[in-house]
Amino acid sequence: METKLTKSPKLAAQVLLKGGVVAFPTETVYGLGASLFDEAYVQKIFLAKGRPSDNPLIAHVANFHEIELLAKTIPRTAEQLMEAFFPGALTIILPKSKYVPDIVSAGLSTIGIRMPSLKLTQMFLKECGTPVAAPSANLSGKPSSTSWKAVREDFDGKIECILKGDESEFGLESTVVDCSVAHPVVLRTGAISIEELQRVVPETRLGISESHHAPKSPGMKYRHYAPEATVKLIDDFSDVDYAHAFIGISQPPKPFAHQKICKGLSDYARSLYAFFRECDAHGLKTIYCQSVPKQGIGLALMDRIEKASKK
Ligand code: TXA
Ligand code: MG
Repeated sequence: METKLTKSPKLAAQVLLKGGVVAFPTETVYGLGASLFDEAYVQKIFLAKGRPSDNPLIAHVANFHEIELLAKTIPRTAEQLMEAFFPGALTIILPKSKYVPDIVSAGLSTIGIRMPSLKLTQMFLKECGTPVAAPSANLSGKPSSTSWKAVREDFDGKIECILKGDESEFGLESTVVDCSVAHPVVLRTGAISIEELQRVVPETRLGISESHHAPKSPGMKYRHYAPEATVKLIDDFSDVDYAHAFIGISQPPKPFAHQKICKGLSDYARSLYAFFRECDAHGLKTIYCQSVPKQGIGLALMDRIEKASKK
């Protein structure tokens, strides 16, 4: 199949409404979308990605009316978090309504909902006029895509359309918060920090992920975000081989074969996945990633690097 590349949210929405899978930009990472209420269309996402069918998709919405359609109930905590962070880099898990097909929620009784803030995404979702089910736009197991070129690498010839936008502003996936329980639980750290969430709902806690026997967020049990290369987390440059690659915020004492010195934590987060992909393209075998304090976006950044280093 020929993958259409377009800058027009209207054209991309037309392709989606006819049953196509459309990759689209967001402020976190690119998504791989299909019309949410049609099981056959949504099925195509799982096939294109090679995604296990027990891993649910996020519903991307343009407005609060769509949220009311997807959720069975909206607890007070969810309302507070939505008021504070929607539109934005937050996904809220709510009890799902009867209209949500099982394939989207992977058989769970809940649905993850996100309202992206990027203007182009909003225009696209508005043109769709229906919620869009979408995981991150990467082949299963690969790092998420933060540019349309990365999407094309993974999906050229496999999906109907790519909506071309800029590189993703945050570069890490949204924070996932379960609000279907009494106190909100963060299932995946992300661009919105736990500190920010607690300022709005102080009871918000960090959930346990991989070590848990029956993970609350099914995605947690799969290997994620990993390049082909071996990822090593380092605190300093005492025990490194400069023939390899490095990404971090400190200037190394001498240059690595391939390196990216970031301007700060946000730049580090924004650059990580693209750097992973770049290193794979260059055939590099080891990528050193500098450790950062687990605060603010640093927590999500360290989570992704730690996951990538466990192979
Ligand atoms: O920033 C993002 O969230 C991006 C953009 C495209 O919106 N999307 C994204 O989707 O990262 P995905 O599918 O790659 O990751 C969603 C995560 C998975 O770990 C999944 O298991 C979890 O959220 N999730 C989705 N629905 C859930 C639910 N109902 N209950 C628990 N976890 C859920
Ligand atoms: Mg993903």
